[in-house]
Amino acid sequence: MGYIYCPSLMCADFAHLKRELNALQEAGADIVHVDMMDGQYVENFGMGMQDLAVVCREASIPIEVHLMILRPEYHIFKFLELEIDTIYFHPDAVRHPAHLIDTIHNAGKMAGIVLNPETSIGTVVELLYIVDYVMVMMVNPGFSGNAYLPYIEEKVRGLCGLKKQYRFEIEIDGGVDEDIIRRLGDYGADRFVLGTTALFRRKKSYKEVFEELDGINNGQRIEG
Ligand code: DX5
Ligand code: ZN
Repeated sequence: MGYIYCPSLMCADFAHLKRELNALQEAGADIVHVDMMDGQYVENFGMGMQDLAVVCREASIPIEVHLMILRPEYHIFKFLELEIDTIYFHPDAVRHPAHLIDTIHNAGKMAGIVLNPETSIGTVVELLYIVDYVMVMMVNPGFSGNAYLPYIEEKVRGLCGLKKQYRFEIEIDGGVDEDIIRRLGDYGADRFVLGTTALFRRKKSYKEVFEELDGINNGQRIEG
């Protein structure tokens, strides 16, 4: 199977959200990535509940929500009632991450945890038994266009070595470009969030970018 590409809608043209979403879908996006923030866990506000409602109404591809909020367990029910496929949260923002994963699963959705640059694998290893996805932040979270942190690649390698044993998939978020997709994809990463560098600030149409990206592994995965 080829890599899964998840454009971060926060980087799109907000004046035309519906049009952008349609253009991304038509161009070949696999999943819509929606960044939600509370101004406390990170110093920014991403997309809001009303934006998310538009995405849920208009999307014909799966939706994943990336919650960069403190205490997501207090707000999770608002998300569980929406047609979202996967909910990602930062385990350090939750009092009982394993319980939150169960809550998400019990609502019939997929659960993912997100590792910040400073979050080591050892602090989440028990959660690897029960999560569907592990997202690795390659930048400090909160803003698109943040600086890529190459030292995190070692953590991606480490996680790739565990994914068969624990049965989870790996998503890469922040600073992604074509070289990074090639390198981390070879390690065994499965999914990539496409932000400013990989997609939105290119001087190419979304369709051209997806054609290029689809050509990267041409369906030939090197299993990590
Ligand atoms: C950052 C967000 C990302 C962001 C990616 O905190 O989680 O999804 O939009 O944007 P780039 O690829 O520009 O870093
Ligand atoms: Zn994100």
